[in-house]
Amino acid sequence: MQAVAQAQPNIALIKYWGKRDVDRNLPAVDSLSVTLDTLWTWMSLEFDARLEQDTLDVNGSEAPSMLARVSHCLDLVVGSGRAFARVESSSNFPIGAGLASSASAFAALVVAADKAAGSGLETNALARLAGAASGSAARSLFGGFVELTATDENIEVREIADSASWPLEVIIAVTAEGPKALGSTEAMIRSARTSPFYSSWLEQQSADLEIARQAVRQRDFAKLAAVAEHNCLKMHSVMWGSRPPIVYWNQATLACMETVRALQADRLSVFFTIDAGPQLKAVCLPEDAEFVRAALEQTAGVIRVMRSGLGPGARLLEQA
Ligand code: DP6
Repeated sequence: MQAVAQAQPNIALIKYWGKRDVDRNLPAVDSLSVTLDTLWTWMSLEFDARLEQDTLDVNGSEAPSMLARVSHCLDLVVGSGRAFARVESSSNFPIGAGLASSASAFAALVVAADKAAGSGLETNALARLAGAASGSAARSLFGGFVELTATDENIEVREIADSASWPLEVIIAVTAEGPKALGSTEAMIRSARTSPFYSSWLEQQSADLEIARQAVRQRDFAKLAAVAEHNCLKMHSVMWGSRPPIVYWNQATLACMETVRALQADRLSVFFTIDAGPQLKAVCLPEDAEFVRAALEQTAGVIRVMRSGLGPGARLLEQA
């Protein structure tokens, strides 16, 4: 009745933005991501018949605001007649700040709950359950390069290349550490309702995804860089065109973009992507990673940088 799991966040290169079914949390578009290795969320879970409700501790403190989502996710994995659970999680990076902490948290949660309850679900079934809690979490069940395909019925998630086959590096420039003002769920719903660019976003996604898929297959960094930056800026254009507008960037985010542009002018193999928060993620070839890290660290307004390679999907840990 007890299990411990670990999962890493993933960074989308072709973004999930928008829902075709809000109640079932089914994405409106397909997406492609890379799973990281040095950032992690650790999740310990115990079902206990003596408990009168679920309890949740995040990084050593009670987290009542996140409890309902966690309880709902456990109901989906185990069934609503389940015993209550004691859930403890910790992460080695800021949570709720556009660093995909919900992705690693829900991926680890479904793996731990499945083991603790003895459900024995397949990885894709677990990905669907994690995705129902947070769309991007479905991708963290897999490692390396991951593609998520959505239909009106469900999602399919698969690894299209493993982490060793194209060992890209990701440098994360943290430009603000507090939680973001507007969560991605609410922001996506607002974009769909009010942005004049939302329909173009939906129309063009499969073409962007096909180019990215080819780039991964061919290990063509320049091709991946061009389509990933385009897709990221297009997603943010959808947000900027929403009413009221959704702007996650700060001055340091823009300064980091300029740093990446300067590195590209110096012929380094690097591109940026930005999610629903002010942090910039620079993806680069391993030989350029140290230069990229140093340049972002020196960029005005950057609080700190983190560096990661690509890593595996969510997995169980041996218990003490
Ligand atoms: C910008 O997965 O956090 O990071 O399903 O509403 O929980 P919910 O959204 P979430 O959104 C991630 C959006 C993104 C792009 C991406 O990761 O693909």
